Amino acid sequence: MEAKKPIVMSGIRPTGYLHLGNYFGAIRNYVRMQDEFECFFMVADLHSLTTHPDTKELKSNVHRVLAENIACGLDPEKAAFYCQSHIYETSELYLYLNMLAYKGELEKTVTFKDKVRLQPNNVNAGLLTYPVLQAADIILHRASLVPVGKDQEQHLEMARNFANRFNHRYGNVFPEPMAFNYNDELIKVPSLDGTGKMSKSENQMATLYLADSDDLIRKKVMKAKTDNGPAEPNATKPDYIENIFLLMRLVSARPVIDKFESDYNNCNIRYGDMKKQLAEDMVSFIAPIRAKVEGILGNENYLKQIMETGAEKARNSAKATMEIVRECMGLTYF
Ligand code: TRP
Repeated sequence: MEAKKPIVMSGIRPTGYLHLGNYFGAIRNYVRMQDEFECFFMVADLHSLTTHPDTKELKSNVHRVLAENIACGLDPEKAAFYCQSHIYETSELYLYLNMLAYKGELEKTVTFKDKVRLQPNNVNAGLLTYPVLQAADIILHRASLVPVGKDQEQHLEMARNFANRFNHRYGNVFPEPMAFNYNDELIKVPSLDGTGKMSKSENQMATLYLADSDDLIRKKVMKAKTDNGPAEPNATKPDYIENIFLLMRLVSARPVIDKFESDYNNCNIRYGDMKKQLAEDMVSFIAPIRAKVEGILGNENYLKQIMETGAEKARNSAKATMEIVRECMGLTYF
């Protein structure tokens, strides 16, 4: 028999509109993992209720996240790709874990404190127990590997604590979930304005979305900050110039990159030409993904079928875990 593959689990918030940073930072890793591990990828629609109680746009946001990830290569035949709210077992495990989570530690969570500041009029209990729900998502499948960014490390540590507390109190059910990333893949995708990385919340003109039209991509790239060029050969690049090279390395062909590197080192670089080239290479990279997304979004039956298939796989795994959980907890009276 084939050795059992390690179990991977991660959640994606349905905030819609993925950008290039999401692609190179997360999705590309998911796509690689789905061949090597048993993967559960979940759209965290319940989590979004902690900050967005209005559900009018939830459906279209969920559809978009599904479509964008699939267009980027996530394969619903290989991984279980599902919605959190379709797996009722998550809510059950969340309830049990809430009895093992302490008010003090939850209040100390950095993301909780941030949200209290952002929405002082809606500090609901779901916000406080956000990390408990996230722990339930993960350990429901007895996952040991969780591909997440740095911002999720505290949540993951809490998930380990809750899992360990459960194990100590009721019996050894859950492996310790650990953050996992291919270490050669920690690629930084810089924003176009020379400050920080691409992100949803920052300057919209400095972030390239997979849904951006060709013209918008060109416009954004052409606005990237440059200067008069280096004053001496082989100069170190200022950050905003290095960023343009970094972006080029993500989407342009080797000879193109080499040409502009050597132009830079020889002090005859023309940033206008470089940005035009980068813009066209970005368009060639993003346009086919955008077209795929639109195709998928236009096919509601396909989306529905994806969600059903994913939910079925996730439910099978969840049901098996919850039988053990109830048994260990002594919640079996008949
Ligand atoms: N909290 C995660 C985020 O903000 C999303 C998430 C929900 C998640 N459940 C998860 C991530 C389980 C990893 C595992 O991005």
